[in-house]
This record gives sequence, structure tokens and C-alpha cells, in this order.
Amino acid sequence: MEKDIKILAIESSCDETSAAVVVNGREVLSNVISSQIDIHKKFGGVVPEVASRKHIEVISAVVQESLDIAKVSLEDIDAVGVTYGPGLVGALLVGLQYAKGLSYAIDKPLIGVNHIEGHISANFIEYKELKPPFVCLVVSGGHTFIVYMKDFGEFEVMGETRDDAAGEAYDKVARAIGLGYPGGPKIDKLAKEGNEKAIKFPRANFHDDNSLDFSFSGVKSSVLNYINNMKMKEVEVNKADVAASFQKSVVDFLVDNAMKACEIKKVDKIAMAGGVASNSCLRYSLVKEGEKRGIKVLFPEPILCTDNAAMIGSAAYFELQRGRAADLNLNAIPNLKLGER
Ligand code: KG4
Ligand code: ZN
Repeated sequence: MEKDIKILAIESSCDETSAAVVVNGREVLSNVISSQIDIHKKFGGVVPEVASRKHIEVISAVVQESLDIAKVSLEDIDAVGVTYGPGLVGALLVGLQYAKGLSYAIDKPLIGVNHIEGHISANFIEYKELKPPFVCLVVSGGHTFIVYMKDFGEFEVMGETRDDAAGEAYDKVARAIGLGYPGGPKIDKLAKEGNEKAIKFPRANFHDDNSLDFSFSGVKSSVLNYINNMKMKEVEVNKADVAASFQKSVVDFLVDNAMKACEIKKVDKIAMAGGVASNSCLRYSLVKEGEKRGIKVLFPEPILCTDNAAMIGSAAYFELQRGRAADLNLNAIPNLKLGER
């Protein structure tokens, strides 16, 4: 029997400081997440400089807790995995420098992980037998991609947003209707009380029927214009209807392109990833459309959808299997592209 590989993983690309211990890329022994949401809430979004400082304050304790919960010591760790991009450069550097220090101290390989690859890999934790090829819809606060994962470590971006990310649009619309930050879960909840057909918010048109790209800044502006018009007319806005109609427009766009991607690649599996993958309307609509076409929809549990280190530990394991360890020259790359090194 082959020896189990235990990876200590660190994630600090945005506003969550997280550390995890993951065995063979699939089994999570610990996944400690220290969120800064309460701090950034006051500002209505993430303040990069504040995020970096908070990461520095908590990272040692978060790593120690992840080892304690996993009941392992540093001597038991076979490699250190860390997010090195994309993300906020100052925030990334905190996790990266810490990981480099650990890797050097315990003399074990350092593995740099792409944050988006990490999000996709959350599915390998949820579904123990899952292997590529499959299509993945990555929808978070900073990213919106349709990715074809051909094999471990091999990605083809089939579509992406040309402006706002899906989660960003949710957060901006939530702010406009006074729901606070982060707005995604709040819109998700409020939309359940609204009528999704009440207001018609338009979808972007690219004059290219084959494009699988997205654009969400148009729908966001339409919502803002609608709210302003109603205010000028002194008519009270039905927030639940706005939430439901906005959500319908975003979800339909995501689902249509995701289904087209599965047809193009002739796959029968679509995985979801990123914070917005927790959205109940998106999950419901994808499953419904998938059933019509014989496509199975996979989604990780919510804690594995938002930023966490377990997903980084999973991706790091598959990178290590392919012999892709980094060295201590590894640097943070804020705009790192999927599949690039
Ligand atoms: O993946 P994530 O934790 O961080 C990034 O890498 O961006 O995603 C956070 C985003 C936020 O924009 C948040 O509003 C959104 O995910 N989100 C949701 C839901 N839960 C989180 N959006 C819609 N519906 C949800 N239930
Ligand atoms: Zn993320």
C-alpha cells in the first residue's frame, strides 16, 4: 500500500486566513477558517491593506489550530501547499512567506496553488471518486469562469466575465437595496419572498452566438437605474422583487452558458465552485436543466465553496503527484491565470 500524503495548506488570497491538513487530496483532517468579514463590513467591501494586517495577526494561530485539530505535528507533514495567486498581493504574500518558512524549516516540498484551481478541487473532496474530464462553473466574488478540466492540472477556459464577477454583482446590488456586505447570501434569502418575473432586467448581448463569456455590469446598472427611477417617482421599491428578478437574470445567464459548454465538450458532469456556488437558485436551476440533458451537477458543501485551505490542500496534492513542486523563489502573482505558472 502506498504511503498517505499529508499536506498542510494555507490560503490568504482575500479576506479569509485559512489552514488545513488534507490527506491524499481527498480527506480533510482539519480546515480552520478565520474570516475578516466583520472588519470589512464597516467599509462595504474588502480593504486590501487591512486584510494583509489581519492575516499577519492570525496566521500563526490558524496554522497551529489546523495541526492540533488534525492531531498531527509538523514532522508528519509531507508537503506545504499555498495559494500564490490570483488575489490581493499583500494578502497573498502573508500566506506565501509563512508557507515558505515552514517548508524550509521542515525540509519538505513547497507547492504553489492557483486559487481558482483550488476552488475547482473542492469537488475532489466532496466526491471521492471524481476524476476529470468535466466542466466546472467557477463563480465567486472575484471570478466567473467556465472551465473545461481535461485532466488533473489541465484547464481550458471556455468563458469568463468581461467585467464584474457574479458575486461582485450580487454584492453591489445588495448594497444598492440596503442589505449590507456580503450581499450574495442576503439576496439569495430575500429573493425567495419575491417575484422573479416582476421586473425584466436585460442580459448582455455580445453579437457572437458562440461566445460563452459573461457580463454582469449591465444588469447591475439596470437595477441601479430602476431604483433611482422609482425614488424619483416616490414609489416604494419592492426589494424582494428586485432581488428575485436580478437573481433570475444572473442565474439564467450562468445556466445557459454552462449547459452549452457541456454540450460542446460532450461531458455528462458539471461541477460548481466558488462562493456563489452556494446560491440556492443557481443550484436548483442547474440541477433542473442538467436533468433534462442527462448531466449530473456536482456541488461541494457550502464551507468548501467559499475561500478555505482544504481546497488548496487538495489541488496541491494533485500538483505534487505531477511533480510540480516550487522552490523558495516562488512569488505572489496577483493576476495569475488558470493553467499558467
Ligand atoms: O469564493 P468566495 O468566498 O471569495 C472569492 O474568492 O471571491 O466568494 C465570495 C462571494 C461573495 O461575493 C458573496 O456575496 C458570494 O460569494 N456568495 C453568494 C452566496 N454565498 C456567497 N452569492 C450568491 N448567493 C449565495 N448564497
Ligand atoms: Zn475564492
